[in-house]
Amino acid sequence: MAQPDPYAPPAERAAALRAEIARLDHAYYVLDTPLVPDADYDALFRELQAIEAAHPELRTADSPTQRVGGAPLPQFVPVRHAVPMLSIQTETDTTPQGASAFDQRVRNKLGLSADDPPVLYNAELKFDGLAINLRYEHGVLVQAATRGDGETGEDVTQNVRTIRSVPLQLRAPKPPAVLEVRGEALMQRAEFERYNDRQRAKGLPTLVNPRNGAAGSIRQLDPAIAAQRPLAFYAYGWGEIQGWSDQPDTHHAMLDAFEALGLPVAPQRAHGPGAQTLIRFHADIAAARDSLPFDIDGVVYKVDSLALQRELGFRNREPVWAVAHKYPAQERSTRVLAIDIQVGRTGKLTPVAKLEPVFVGGVTVTNATLHNEDEVRRKDVRVGDMVVVRRAGDVIPEVVSVLLDQRPADVGEPFDLYKQLGGHCPVCGSGIVREEGEADWRCTGGLFCAAQRKQAILHYASRRAMDIEGLGEKLVDQLVDGGIVHTLPDLYRLGLMKLAALDRMADKSAGNLLAALERSKAATLPRFIYALGIRHVGEATAKELARHFGSLDGLMNASLEQLQAVPDIGPIVALSLRTFFDQPHNREVVEQLRACGVRWDESAPADATAPKPLTGKTFVLTGTLPSISREDAKERIEAAGGKVAGAVSKKTDYVVAGAEAGSKLAKAQELGVAVIDEAALMALLAHG
Ligand code: IVH
Repeated sequence: MAQPDPYAPPAERAAALRAEIARLDHAYYVLDTPLVPDADYDALFRELQAIEAAHPELRTADSPTQRVGGAPLPQFVPVRHAVPMLSIQTETDTTPQGASAFDQRVRNKLGLSADDPPVLYNAELKFDGLAINLRYEHGVLVQAATRGDGETGEDVTQNVRTIRSVPLQLRAPKPPAVLEVRGEALMQRAEFERYNDRQRAKGLPTLVNPRNGAAGSIRQLDPAIAAQRPLAFYAYGWGEIQGWSDQPDTHHAMLDAFEALGLPVAPQRAHGPGAQTLIRFHADIAAARDSLPFDIDGVVYKVDSLALQRELGFRNREPVWAVAHKYPAQERSTRVLAIDIQVGRTGKLTPVAKLEPVFVGGVTVTNATLHNEDEVRRKDVRVGDMVVVRRAGDVIPEVVSVLLDQRPADVGEPFDLYKQLGGHCPVCGSGIVREEGEADWRCTGGLFCAAQRKQAILHYASRRAMDIEGLGEKLVDQLVDGGIVHTLPDLYRLGLMKLAALDRMADKSAGNLLAALERSKAATLPRFIYALGIRHVGEATAKELARHFGSLDGLMNASLEQLQAVPDIGPIVALSLRTFFDQPHNREVVEQLRACGVRWDESAPADATAPKPLTGKTFVLTGTLPSISREDAKERIEAAGGKVAGAVSKKTDYVVAGAEAGSKLAKAQELGVAVIDEAALMALLAHG
């Protein structure tokens, strides 16, 4: 479609914007292929909002601005379904025989013998969410309702409008007069995790599982809150239909037609002859289940021909032509044997439930995460409790809730992480802390704690820290797991023999690594401070500290007050530094590193008042410089008192351009900013 004409009259312009936004929404949310950058989309959306604000009469029910807009409802209004929303029978046999049994039942009902041709089927996912009926009249979404008791549901139109993949208008020049599309609203696992992570960080209650998340969102009276818990929708059936001239006559063709109308239909579906189609689908989906973006509890088989569906009809208010074939449950109950506390790579202490083994989500689970102390307390999980454990996708199994009515009389005490550990890290014995506003307890052992060793070494060796080329993740794994490196100073005690004996390590690369280690000894104070991996101390803070204290000893012995006197250092960073240097192990590591030859220039603290050659000047670096890296150039400019910015503006004093400089160079020329090369930069560094 052409871009909407910006000079059209408001009514025309609004209509064109609506159509364009609907097209972009369909591409983004249904086809998963964004067509324009988010900012372009936002601009169109804001323009439409502005037109509608100026001309409220142009605001239509199917305008994308109306996806979130309604006021909270006092209550939901009942909706009587034109065609009842029924449920399906579940095949309890989870083996492939379940599919054959269904095929046999269908054949018997149709009076087919073994010699008759196979029945054609459609197989699709059984979504684990909330059934919704979408009513489109002449292509416009006019109502969305829950299933309720099957006869009467609730009007949840406002909340369903917030589901971005649900089209507000069908994509057809002549849509049916009435089309009721049925499907499932659900919360994708990633959204569920994101929502729960956010809640946990704020110390607020979490959702038990995505299904409850979806139900909570759909049955939320305030659509603004519903919009914060994004849902997806997948169509699998229909209710009332009127005036659809070329309506398909098989189930699979109906789903294809829905897709063509712009409705979301899950791509995981298959149609074909006989039980083997169903058995294959069941197996394929079982293998793919963990990698689907949402939970399913099984698959659904349907007789494909709508004429045969009518012939087979219903029994006990369930279609004879459809069956659900389940997979092993993703939630099961079991007993908590103990609550252990694990130390993560960053020192985070995570309570983990040790469980009586239980088969859930296709594997036997014996451990489940409890996330953090507040979560354990909120759920009140105790040793001895029966709990619900959930394992879905490749997500770590977690304890969802306690079955309080099954709590034994001799259940354990309420959980108290600090008390249980006696205040010490279970791996290294260092003190543990929980900072204000944080949900996690942490080990302060840093460089010393075995659990944090790999992470600490990788950080120390990283490019912006000590820059030890060749010391990557695989090698660190080998060195630590093989007991060769315990602490940072051990790195400098590595010999050629030990290194060359490692897997996949040739003499040449061992030699290179030793050379890189040797080179890293000539450090700078800011790099060394940063390399220690002190919590909250990033590169900028490390530079600030080095500038202020001038020596490592000055920093190590600074009081909390002295630390807070450094620009940009607040109580949290100060406390983190103090805690780090108060651990004897950490001081020991620093001493040993120095003893191994790690050194830096400790000139007296720079006199802040002494003018530096580039004070007050802002630089932007672009392209490849002939002899120094951009990183080096940045360090040198900053050491000379200058600033390095990421983008060119009128405030930029110099753009330093190297080979293949791109848009920044063009921008500099446009704004008339001075463009210099590396040689000119060197001259400025030397003389200002
Ligand atoms: S067909 C008349 N197909 O499972 C047949 N239902 O017990 C109507 N469900 O609450 C249902 N995925 O919301 C059908 N592919 C699918 C489904 C599906 C999930 C839900 C549905 C209903 C329950 C059926």
